[in-house]
Amino acid sequence: LIEAVGAREILDSRGNPTVEVEVLLDDGIVQRAAVPSGASTGAFEAYELRDGDKGRYAGKGVLKAVEAVIDELGPAIEGLEASEQRVVDAALIEADGTPNKQRTGANAILGVSLAVAKAAADSADLPLFRYVGGPNAHVMPVPLLNVINGGAHADTGVDIQEFFLVPHGADTYAEALRWGVETYHVLKSELKAGGFATGLGDEGGFAPDLPSNREALDFLLKAIEKAGFTPGTDIALGLDVASTEFFSDGAYAFEGKKLTSEQLTDYYVELLDAYPLVTIEDPLAEDDWDGWKALTDRIGSRVQLVGDDLFVTNPQRLADGIARGVGNSLLVKVNQIGTLTETLDAVALAHSSGYTAMMSHRSGETEDTTIADLAVAVNCGQIKTGAPARSDRVAKYNQLLRIEEELGAGATFAGRGAFPRYTA
Ligand code: PGA
Ligand code: ZN
Repeated sequence: LIEAVGAREILDSRGNPTVEVEVLLDDGIVQRAAVPSGASTGAFEAYELRDGDKGRYAGKGVLKAVEAVIDELGPAIEGLEASEQRVVDAALIEADGTPNKQRTGANAILGVSLAVAKAAADSADLPLFRYVGGPNAHVMPVPLLNVINGGAHADTGVDIQEFFLVPHGADTYAEALRWGVETYHVLKSELKAGGFATGLGDEGGFAPDLPSNREALDFLLKAIEKAGFTPGTDIALGLDVASTEFFSDGAYAFEGKKLTSEQLTDYYVELLDAYPLVTIEDPLAEDDWDGWKALTDRIGSRVQLVGDDLFVTNPQRLADGIARGVGNSLLVKVNQIGTLTETLDAVALAHSSGYTAMMSHRSGETEDTTIADLAVAVNCGQIKTGAPARSDRVAKYNQLLRIEEELGAGATFAGRGAFPRYTA
């Protein structure tokens, strides 16, 4: 039984306040969870409650959310069975009472939801991935390493936010991670040799001020080859364009031009012809449903098209997208929707509808590694949690190493099968 719930304000990887929750069970178990935070957030995400008190942390404090945990959310679930996650999450949603979780804050609610799951797992003496996923949790995800950071995550002129190495040709997760890391180090020397800066962006990738987005892809190809791997078969490429960030008044401001969704789609077709891309996230903006539909019809059979700002891990928005035939993959961010239950529902809907799902961190992260366990729990076969640098990113990759070891012979690496539309 849940005996007590506490919360505090801690810092995330960008030095901004965030919520940490602790849950005490009547058997003495204590577990905590910390909440991540985005920079290129979608307009339809659940509400992140910040104090707005300019006298503290430039208004970004989360003391109101902390107070909501202590005064309202905790009391709403104290006495409930921690293993009844759906009952707990329903009680949290009801206690908040708003459709967007804006009264108590999705950051407050998520912290409680995840801390309860971790406490229940500990109480059952199970690792989190096993507790959440049951006996069938066994698929080790392909790590999508975001090694070049642009867009809202770096102060450069590169429009595309994330450039991924996708080491899907490896035999195990540990091997895939090593391939990606070796390539990451070669990429650094290549950028240096080319006269570009190798400072890091928010997610641990390099943030060079490259003259074009294609230049970034060229650097990745060069690094993969120099590291001794074959582009496409060993290590493929992926993008998170995060295009909502440069969409306004019906046009995409891309590489100094104003493009229509059709013109931007033409550009993606050229990229698909030239590079071994297996996945493109948010190629078009969160409101551009017609553009998304046309884009999906054109290239959806060739590449994974991931909806992040478009679906915001929201089962309703995803159902809408599925009905319209938009996209073919769901990006999964626990804080976009605010409870574990709704996150699992979104993944289940994606999978039952023939959509893939990719587990994801936020650009603002903490040492909390819950998403690594969730990726294995739901067998989604893909995770993006930054470059192999910065402890907030590496913590998740390291947790997956532990999980693969724990699964032993029971582990299956998702590999190329994770990207069913890969045809390069
Ligand atoms: P965010 O970026 O966490 O800053 O929203 C991540 C993403 O767009 O996938
Ligand atoms: Zn994204």
